Amino acid sequence: MSSESPGRSTWKSRSGFILAAIGSAVGLGNIWRFSYLAYDNGGGAFLVPYLVALLTAGIPLLILEFGIGHERIGSAPLAFRKIGKKWEWLGWWPLMFTMFGVVLYYSVVIAWCFDFIFYSLTLAWGDNPGDFFFKTFLGLSSSPAEIGSIRMPIIGGLLVVWLITWIIIVRGVSHGLELANRIFMPLLLVLTVILVIWSLNLDGAMIGVSAYLNPDFSKLTDPLVWVSAYGQIFFTLSLGFGIMIAYASYMPYESDMTGSALITALTNSGFSLLSGFGVFSILGFMAYSQNLPLEEVVKQSIGLAFVAYPQAMSLLGGIGPLFGVLFFLSLTVAGISSSISLVEAFVSGIQDKFGFGRKKAATVICIIGFAGGIIFTTNGGLYWLDIVDHFINFYGIVVAALLECVVVGWFFRLDMVRKHMNSVSRIQLGTWWNWIIKLGLPLFLAVILVNQFIKEVTSAYEGYSWESLIGIGWTWVGITFLVSFVFALQPWKTECHLEKGRGEEL
Ligand code: ALA
Repeated sequence: MSSESPGRSTWKSRSGFILAAIGSAVGLGNIWRFSYLAYDNGGGAFLVPYLVALLTAGIPLLILEFGIGHERIGSAPLAFRKIGKKWEWLGWWPLMFTMFGVVLYYSVVIAWCFDFIFYSLTLAWGDNPGDFFFKTFLGLSSSPAEIGSIRMPIIGGLLVVWLITWIIIVRGVSHGLELANRIFMPLLLVLTVILVIWSLNLDGAMIGVSAYLNPDFSKLTDPLVWVSAYGQIFFTLSLGFGIMIAYASYMPYESDMTGSALITALTNSGFSLLSGFGVFSILGFMAYSQNLPLEEVVKQSIGLAFVAYPQAMSLLGGIGPLFGVLFFLSLTVAGISSSISLVEAFVSGIQDKFGFGRKKAATVICIIGFAGGIIFTTNGGLYWLDIVDHFINFYGIVVAALLECVVVGWFFRLDMVRKHMNSVSRIQLGTWWNWIIKLGLPLFLAVILVNQFIKEVTSAYEGYSWESLIGIGWTWVGITFLVSFVFALQPWKTECHLEKGRGEEL
């Protein structure tokens, strides 16, 4: 094909690509985030909006991102540049808030998991995991303004996480990302299956499982449950991050892209549903061992993985440490397979535009990533993490996804993307898909956003001070937005933006 870029990295095989896409999708979001959202939002009742969100937003949008990357053959900035010169910034923006937002705190949470592998060996939290996590480990201050000092074990873990990320990224698409995911994904599956079977066999596990399977449906009338479900689907499928566009661009022409999107999305959600059995079994076990109702087992749901699980490990007796090591190892593996994709999306963008060598680009980016994450390792780090996560999720990821649909749907040839996907895939997309992208999704996301925005300006998120919310949350999103224009205005140092897309001849 004349449109193929000779120097562009490629996956060695379709299975390598699918494993990497699943590796990006399956992450802390499936275990840490999914479980506390499900616990907060009516147990299994959360599954209903979650599955609706998967079908109505997750799968169509994943197909769109695969379609843009594969048809335009480019990282997000290159793909949007080829869509139209004036849209290049929309390719940069997700990369900016992902690389200089999500990945900075995401790596810190992986560092916590890494540290907890070692704490598990001695059950270092003693009989009070809550105090251990919030006071001894995080040394949490009283507000985001009180930054305090760096927590040594956290920054140590962070260094290891960035070192591993750097080694994988430097080795490139097939020898780094593909190989790492070929090892990580089967390992993660084995660890998860062991943990779920183990949890299901604990005393009281069925109390949790029945709450998971017999949910509190009254929660479904709460719009927030729906908003959380849609937000979770974007986060868990790495949508609106620019990653899936870059990953799809590394696929050769003859590749079943729609099928790959379906496999990725269904495997990712299957993984969350499976981990849910493990989490709710553990909660049931704790309710049983402590003679408490299930809803009172965990006080702060965000600490579920780092407080409730350790407590369950202590209750397990002699095998507790082994359970702990396996659990935190699985979180670490899931986290790294996603964080490498978050970094790769940015590396791919600057390689395309500025023609940097991979080693140089990856080294500089990983050093900046490590340095940028330091704020989240301080005494005030958890507050910063919570605020940045909240703002980036709504005003970064959801807005970027909305704009992606509008730009490709209304200012580009969406039907050409659909025809391209149909020409390489077995499953054929009807024109209904165009309408989901053009109208259904943007309208729905706009309603979510307007609602969320009204809430945002009328009541301070989680009771933080307005100074913190504006100074950290809005400023963070605002700066990444502005910097994306600065990048878009720079001249191209490569020629790849002049190449045609693959669907152009159809
Ligand atoms: N998709 C990744 C996760 O769920 C970012 O953790």
